Order: sequence, then C-alpha cells, then structure tokens
Amino acid sequence: MQREPLIDGHGRRISDLRISVTDRCNFRCQYCMPAEGLKWLERDGILRFEEIERLAALLAQMGIRTVRLTGGEPLVRKDFPALAALLTRIEKLDEVSVTTNGFLLERDAQALVQAGIARFNVSVDSLQRDRFFAQTRRDALPRVLRGLAHLATFPEAHPIKVNAVAIRGFTEHELLPFARFAREHPYEVRFIEYMPLDGDRSWDMTQVLTGAEIFDAINKHFPLEPAERAPHATARTHRFADGIGKIGLINPVSEPFCGDCDRIRLTADGRLRTCLFSLNETDLRTPLRTGATDDDLEQLIRDAIWRKELKHRVNEPGFIQPQRTMSAIGG
Ligand code: 5AD
Ligand code: SF4
Repeated sequence: MQREPLIDGHGRRISDLRISVTDRCNFRCQYCMPAEGLKWLERDGILRFEEIERLAALLAQMGIRTVRLTGGEPLVRKDFPALAALLTRIEKLDEVSVTTNGFLLERDAQALVQAGIARFNVSVDSLQRDRFFAQTRRDALPRVLRGLAHLATFPEAHPIKVNAVAIRGFTEHELLPFARFAREHPYEVRFIEYMPLDGDRSWDMTQVLTGAEIFDAINKHFPLEPAERAPHATARTHRFADGIGKIGLINPVSEPFCGDCDRIRLTADGRLRTCLFSLNETDLRTPLRTGATDDDLEQLIRDAIWRKELKHRVNEPGFIQPQRTMSAIGG
C-alpha cells in the first residue's frame, strides 16, 4: 500500500528514520551517560519486534526510505539480528543500517550482514587504549578494533564509517592518529561535534571542537580536497589529496544542517521525536497497544511531523537541553 508522502510544516520531505532499539548500553561514554548508568526503561515498556516492524512498514508507505538502528547500544538487545532481518524485508526501504560501539561486532557482524544490513557506523573516540578507557569507562579498544577488522572482512559491509565525537581538550590529540588510521584502513573516519545531549549536563560551547578547526589541523599535515556530497548527507566529506582515504566532518553545532533535515526518530519506548533536541514527543506505543488502526497511526504521525522543529537552538540564548540523553534518543 502507498500513502501520501510525509511533509513537515516547513515543506521538508521526511525520508529517514532512526530507530532506537534499546536505551541500554555496555559502555558509559563520558559525553553520553553517567558512570553509574541511567534509569533504564522497563522491559515491557520497550517496543516489541512486531511493533517496531509495524511502525517501520507503515512509515515506509509514507515515504521513509532509509532506516538506521541505534541504541543505547543496539547489539545488546536480545536477538537484534532477527529484528534487523524483519526490517530489511520491508520492500519499500532502500537501506537499513546500524550504529554501534563495536564491542559485540565479533559476535554479530556476520549475522547482521546476513540479515541484510548494508551500512555500519562504528563509534571510536580514541585510538589510544588508556584514553579510550577514560572516555568510554571501558577498557575495550582492542576488542572494538578486532570487531571492526572482522566487519571489514565482509565486502557487503563497505564502506564502513568510524565516528568520533570531537571534544576540545581531548580530541585534538587524536586528529593525526585518526587521519593516519583513515589512510591505512578501509574506513571513513568522521568527527561529530559534541552536542548538548550528555547525561551529566556538563556540555558547554567551549567544549565543542569545531569541524573547521579539525579540518585545519589535519589539512596542514595531510592536504585534503572536498569530495562529493550526497543529498541530505550530514557529513562534509574530504579526500586526502593523494587519493588515499577519506575523512568526514559532521558539524551540527557550528554549521547546523536543519534546513535540509529529512529525519525523524523513534525511541525504544515508542515515542516519535521530530528533532534530536525536541522538548516534546508523540506517544505511539499506547495507540499501538490499544488497537489503533494503521490509519489512526498515520494521522498521529502526520500531525507530529507537521510540527517538526524548524531548527535547533543550541547556539541561541535560552537553549533548553532535552530531558532525554543521546542514549535514550538514539544517535
Ligand atoms: N554529542 C555528539 N555525539 C554524540 N554521541 C553520543 N553522545 C553524543 C553527544 N553528546 C554519538 C556517539 C555515537 C552516536 C550514536 O552518537 O558517539 O557515535
Ligand atoms: Fe553507549 Fe553510545 Fe552512549 Fe557511549 S555514546 S554510552 S556507546 S550509547
């Protein structure tokens, strides 16, 4: 079945969906969660596989074309590859991808590739074991790198992206090692500006290491040239001038890309969010569980999307950080 496309009140066509499949995580990244973790959602509050599948299929009828599965850490959700396989079967979707911290990739990469996952983003914030430990509060760098290398053995998983959150006072020391890493491995390394979605609420603007600063630091040692940019891509991609490898810069704070945003998010407990920084959300779980028809759900979704935020206000006075942290929204 085909339904009308999803258009928001600012005329943007919505075609990308992020689904957080769990708010739990086996890491405790400084910029995301407190050391003791967060209060997890109740198990029966989390959408079941059939519920996620139903919403994804309905959204695909309304023009969603790409789905990214996130968490928390999606691979800690029980039988996650089975969920992935349910979603890749939805005919109208062009691509289902996964964002992971890599810790369980040695176990799951094969099952996920077999389930039809086309793209993987693996988060790695430092290439030095002790600094990785300090940032994620888990001494797991060797295991994550083994997971990445294992993933790279599957031709279907390429191109593989490695994401690092860029934090002033920390990431400067990582820039050249990451540039070399991107040149020596078949991974595109991307730096994401630090956003105010941390569990400790200690973010402030001075901690944002900007994409422009990162570009300059790398370009000085390894000259870069611009690479083509796909429509709605959040990253600006640069090729090393000698043709060996690529890096990407995702600059949501210094150069917001809201005008071009085609994205919505579904949280693990079934709330629809129209922006990372939304202060309100739309409950789809209750109607799902109380007999709503697809047409009922469609109306709720359309109304929510019509009110999608024009832009985030991170750079404006009076910005209010949402209650949910990144781990409970899905990156
Ligand atoms: N700012 C920017 N990126 C973040 N991530 C988690 N928290 C933040 C934040 N406060 C990233 C993770 C991962 C993705 C899901 O989001 O490192 O790459
Ligand atoms: Fe877990 Fe990702 Fe948050 Fe790190 S950033 S604690 S890996 S959810």
